[in-house]
Amino acid sequence: MKIKLFLLVITFLMTHTAFGASNKKYELSKFARVQICKMCHGGIYKQWENSMHSLAHVDPIYRKVSKTFLKGLTVAGEIEEAQSCVKCHTPIGFFTGYPTKTSDNEKDIPAIAKSGVQCDFCHTAIGHEHPYNNAMILDPGVIKRGPYKDAKASLHQTQYSKFHTESKICGTCHNVRHVAFDTKLESTYDEWLNGPYNSDDPALRVTCQGCHMHQRPGFPATGSTERPKNPGLAAVMGPKRKHVSTHYFVGANALIPGLHNSKLKVDMAKARLKNAATLSIDTSEIKKSILTIATKNTGAGHYLPTGLTNIRQMWLEIIIKNSKGKLIFSSGAVDKNGYLPKDTIIYNTVFGDGKGSKVVNIAKAKSILSDKRIPPKKSVKERINLTKGNYGKATISVRLLYRSASQKLIDQLFKDKKYVFPIIEMAQRSITVD
Ligand code: HEC
Ligand code: HEC
Ligand code: HEC
Ligand code: HEC
Ligand code: HEC
Repeated sequence: MKIKLFLLVITFLMTHTAFGASNKKYELSKFARVQICKMCHGGIYKQWENSMHSLAHVDPIYRKVSKTFLKGLTVAGEIEEAQSCVKCHTPIGFFTGYPTKTSDNEKDIPAIAKSGVQCDFCHTAIGHEHPYNNAMILDPGVIKRGPYKDAKASLHQTQYSKFHTESKICGTCHNVRHVAFDTKLESTYDEWLNGPYNSDDPALRVTCQGCHMHQRPGFPATGSTERPKNPGLAAVMGPKRKHVSTHYFVGANALIPGLHNSKLKVDMAKARLKNAATLSIDTSEIKKSILTIATKNTGAGHYLPTGLTNIRQMWLEIIIKNSKGKLIFSSGAVDKNGYLPKDTIIYNTVFGDGKGSKVVNIAKAKSILSDKRIPPKKSVKERINLTKGNYGKATISVRLLYRSASQKLIDQLFKDKKYVFPIIEMAQRSITVD
């Protein structure tokens, strides 16, 4: 009797305490590797290969950030947040029980989980509990869900899924909240949800897929460019389709795919950024030494920039020279290290520690101190006070620049300029005034 009770207690403890707790929801054996899908969906596989989704688990910036920032945390909520990263960056692993945290042993992570956000994670999805922190509901196995009502395959069954045609599926992960403090660390889906592209008018409505899964070389597919259908075959033995959704999943990252041999995706990220915004210069108050610059988000379906915007940098570089080429005014010009001057006009998010101080470490982010970004289809104006003086004819050159992370931060994380994020010119304007 005593032994039975003892065993019962042990079993209870194993299943109900941190010691034996598991997030295992599904059997690993029910998921198929990407190499299987590649056999018949070679075209889609090639697009997805080396995308930020396929690299989500191995991405060196993610790995370094999760190791460095999350070291030495002692506050319970901060530790909990630190352990949650794998949910989205290594989703099949997390959902099948291992890894449960970033510090788990790399050797013990199943090979399939290392392929990041992959085919069988998205295509066995049947819905989600809520649109944040990857609360996806899966039904792994022989049925693959997608946008076709009439698809027939031999190796697997198919099923039409409305969920796959909606922004919601992307919102499952593209809304990141601090697990303990509830701070909105990333809110791409909410930005889209509350923006003009989530319109009831079918002529104005554009989903995440409408831009990101129409994009391909030659078609940046933004809000300011055409987003034509992509006719072709979705599978080797399949029928010709009017539109096959592309799977490049290119955003703005012009470094990481290049480290994995995908110059194509780097070029696609640049093309996308070059079609995301416009600049205009207003010199009507120049006699009072005031310059106004307006930046408009013409291409992104969410804020510009979006995602992990406490490390992303989008800023204005303003250079004014007199007719002899002498520098009169400068703002936002990087120094020889690639660092930005303090007074740079930068569009980003700054997190706070709850006591009013700035924090870069997302595990410690208790509040949003400032959010200076540009909503979809909206403009933001900057009134700049120039140093007073009579300069005669002057040339004002303004550039909107972007890079995926502050170089200073990258240099703190890695030594010897190991990674240098390229600076991409999104828009440029230049005028001469008297
Ligand atoms: C991040 C989630 C995600 C990943 C990863 C993903 N897909 Fe998809 N896939 C989708 C969505 C969403 C659609 C439907 C888009 C629509 O119709 O709006 C789709 C559509 C498809 C279709 C239907 C035809 C088409 O192109 O519309 C096939 C086949 C397909 N995917 C195969 C794959 C394969 C193979 C992989 C891995 C190499 C993969 N997918 C990876 C989300 C994903
Ligand atoms: C033996 C070949 C073969 C393999 C292997 C294969 N598929 Fe398919 N799949 C097809 C064919 C054929 C279609 C039908 C295409 C069409 O109708 O345009 C299809 C359709 C699909 C669809 C569209 C379903 C719909 O109703 O919209 C998805 C999603 C899909 N496959 C995902 C996958 C995934 C994920 C894998 C790997 C786990 C995979 N497939 C492996 C042949 C295959
Ligand atoms: C399972 C979670 C998950 C789902 C579902 C998901 N994503 Fe992602 N996505 C990620 C993660 C994680 C990254 C970042 C990987 C990294 O940077 O290491 C990412 C990166 C991206 C990027 C590249 C961003 C850049 O910086 O260039 C784009 C674009 C993107 N996702 C679009 C989509 C779209 C569109 C959908 C819906 C069809 C979708 N995602 C669904 C997790 C997800
Ligand atoms: C109207 C077209 C459009 C729609 C709709 C759209 N995007 Fe984007 N997306 C863009 C453009 C253009 C960029 C590049 C500029 C930027 O970084 O914002 C981008 C960039 C991104 C990035 C990379 C951001 C960065 O700086 O790291 C992610 C992630 C992303 N999109 C996800 C999504 C998701 C998820 C949705 C749906 C909720 C979505 N997008 C809807 C056009 C669109
Ligand atoms: C709910 C899903 C989710 C969770 C949980 C999550 N991430 Fe991410 N992560 C994303 C998405 C989506 C992106 C891409 C957004 C973008 O492009 O800006 C991303 C991008 C990143 C990047 C940028 C990588 C690059 O190459 O630019 C870093 C770094 C990162 N995440 C670190 C973390 C850390 C550390 C944690 C845990 C504390 C974490 N993430 C938890 C979804 C998630």
